[in-house]
Amino acid sequence: NPPIHSQEGTSVLMRENCRAKGGLPGFKVAILGAAGGIGQPLAMLMKMNPLVSVLHLYDVVNTPGVTSDISHMDTGAVVRGFLGKEQLEEALTGMDLVIIPAGVPRKPGMTRDDLFNINAGIVKTLCEGISKCCPKAIVNVISNPVNSTVPIAAEVFKKAGIYDPRRLLGVTMLDVVRANTFVAEVLGLDPREVNVPVVGGHAGVTILPLLSQVKPPCSFTAEETEYLTSRIQNGGTEVVEAKAGAGSATLSMAYAAVKFADACLRGLRGDAGVVECAFVSSQVTELPFFATRVRLGRKGVEEIFPLGPLNEYERAGLEKAKKELAGSIEKGVAFARK
Ligand code: NAD
Ligand code: LMR
Repeated sequence: NPPIHSQEGTSVLMRENCRAKGGLPGFKVAILGAAGGIGQPLAMLMKMNPLVSVLHLYDVVNTPGVTSDISHMDTGAVVRGFLGKEQLEEALTGMDLVIIPAGVPRKPGMTRDDLFNINAGIVKTLCEGISKCCPKAIVNVISNPVNSTVPIAAEVFKKAGIYDPRRLLGVTMLDVVRANTFVAEVLGLDPREVNVPVVGGHAGVTILPLLSQVKPPCSFTAEETEYLTSRIQNGGTEVVEAKAGAGSATLSMAYAAVKFADACLRGLRGDAGVVECAFVSSQVTELPFFATRVRLGRKGVEEIFPLGPLNEYERAGLEKAKKELAGSIEKGVAFARK
């Protein structure tokens, strides 16, 4: 089946071949769930990324319109749209990076785990497609609950015999983006100058900001620590409540997803010193998955950094985080194995 909407034409194909021949950096990226609240601004921002030569937009609805719209942007990436499961394989073939924001978002009163019943199956099906069509791609999982959907993806890849833990990353970048913003506010700094490691997972108490390791070095009162930790852990809920039934964070998430995808692509290109936080297969704790700072390279996650020195408040937070994470990971594994 031809893609339902594309910019196919001699000049576009020439441009694509020319990039490939000239060895210009140009990666092929697919967004699964590209017509959604995150998917649309994410697609727009990825179309603006000079590291992207081909952008595939896949969804079960509305990709013709989104693709037509985005394809008019005068940036380098060639955009193609794919609609419905019969076009999933074509959307995935040859991709270097696959970003997954497909699935339902929260409404007020729900936890991320309440999304499990719908999103687990969606992520499983999409990862089966990845196993078949682009088994060497780096995969960025955004769909919630990330603490369970990443273990589901790992099990699907294991079953297909293509699992490489270095290539599977749960996106926790929004927690870092929020932490940088809220900490900068308290310190009276420009958020671009602030870097807060956020470890653990991506739900409630599993989101553990390490305020003792903020760069530039600084200190907080007990009240500031309590306020910042709680605000960062509840940032998602803050947006869900403000949107009052119209979904969860989409714009800040698209920004965070692009920041993270760009880091993955710079790693693939061979740039040195690309370090971000992500939820990955890990031996940093006794749990099989954990978010920490990781170094990204040509093979994906090339180094996982230890937690570093924690203060008493953070050590207590770590114990709470691990307890909840263990159950969420186990739930994902059990779902994928059944
Ligand atoms: P949305 O409902 O606006 O968009 C989801 C899109 O997924 C829709 O276009 C829908 O058609 C599509 N979709 C559904 N089933 C699909 C399938 N089988 N294949 C392909 N596409 C499919 O939701 P949203 O606001 O974009 O949020 C998407 C997900 O991202 C939610 O699960 C949300 O909780 C999660 N999220 C995660 C983070 C994070 O930090 N990791 C942040 C925000 C949102
Ligand atoms: C977020 O942190 O904004 C997302 O995980 C969406 C949500 O449900 O809170």
